Amino acid sequence: MSKQVEWRKAILRSVRDLTPDIRLFEIVPEGEFVAPTPGSHINVGVQIGERADVRSYSVVGPCADGLYRIAVKRLPDSRGGSLYMWSLAPGAQLSISTPGNHFDLSLGRPEYLLLAGGIGITPIYTMALALAHAGANFRVLYACRGRQDMALADDMRAQVGDRLQMFLDEEGARVDLDAEIARLVPGGEFYVCGPIGMLEAAKRAWQRSGRPVDQLRFETFGNSGRFATEAFKVKIPRLGMELEVPPNKTMLEALEAAGVSMISDCRRGECGLCALYIIETTGTVDHRDVFFSDEEKTENRKLCTCVSRVAGGDITIDTADRAA
Ligand code: FES
Repeated sequence: MSKQVEWRKAILRSVRDLTPDIRLFEIVPEGEFVAPTPGSHINVGVQIGERADVRSYSVVGPCADGLYRIAVKRLPDSRGGSLYMWSLAPGAQLSISTPGNHFDLSLGRPEYLLLAGGIGITPIYTMALALAHAGANFRVLYACRGRQDMALADDMRAQVGDRLQMFLDEEGARVDLDAEIARLVPGGEFYVCGPIGMLEAAKRAWQRSGRPVDQLRFETFGNSGRFATEAFKVKIPRLGMELEVPPNKTMLEALEAAGVSMISDCRRGECGLCALYIIETTGTVDHRDVFFSDEEKTENRKLCTCVSRVAGGDITIDTADRAA
């Protein structure tokens, strides 16, 4: 896994709409260009109202021409990052990081199955191009709502041909995960990027297949829950605190802003470092992470504060060894 090594200034060179709500940004970094590997992301400094913040976006394509390309979906219940990005015009000054990668592609496997849902196509597209370039044996399954939501599909089709298979909700098409995994040769790897429901279904199907856990790799958006995003109250009896998590902030951000000393790393529901104990809730915990198993989510003892939320009520948590 590569590290975020450096922040630098950059200029937005151009924007192009791939779909009505997915926009491609071409970014020229200042200084030496650090080439991204497939599955990489760059961090971008964004402004949310008065507050400076950071968002991670997957790099699109090999970027062999020295430009970073990212695709940003405009989200109605966004915490503000996508709206900020969509407000930018060519020539805008940006602050970006060099590429990091939590979703590495390992070359040399006998076969690959790639699955993308919606905007999850961005790293999967890049991986497909890299695998085609390497002469690897692979298939790409791309699921999205309808034809007008397909981003990068024509371009990918031109480059990988029949290896790409589309599944459109509007046509009632569904990916049969068990059958697709069964077709994968032993030792083959499965890469998934999509909304949390897709990731959970993929994890369950992979588990049923009995294949090695480390041959399934995935990345999540970290913001797609089962309930609409709404404000909720958090009570922390141990610290004598009560705070509100607004719709445009994560619980982790709200706890940090209130001075609770938190531990975190991925901030996208994958590592579990930000998890806290649940004492009780008057609502429903919307577990949006891919760290806890289905059983653990049903037990409801802990939640990943970087992505999970509460719907229809408040929550009381224990910060255990954390201090204010
Ligand atoms: S910081 Fe990694 S799961 Fe929350």
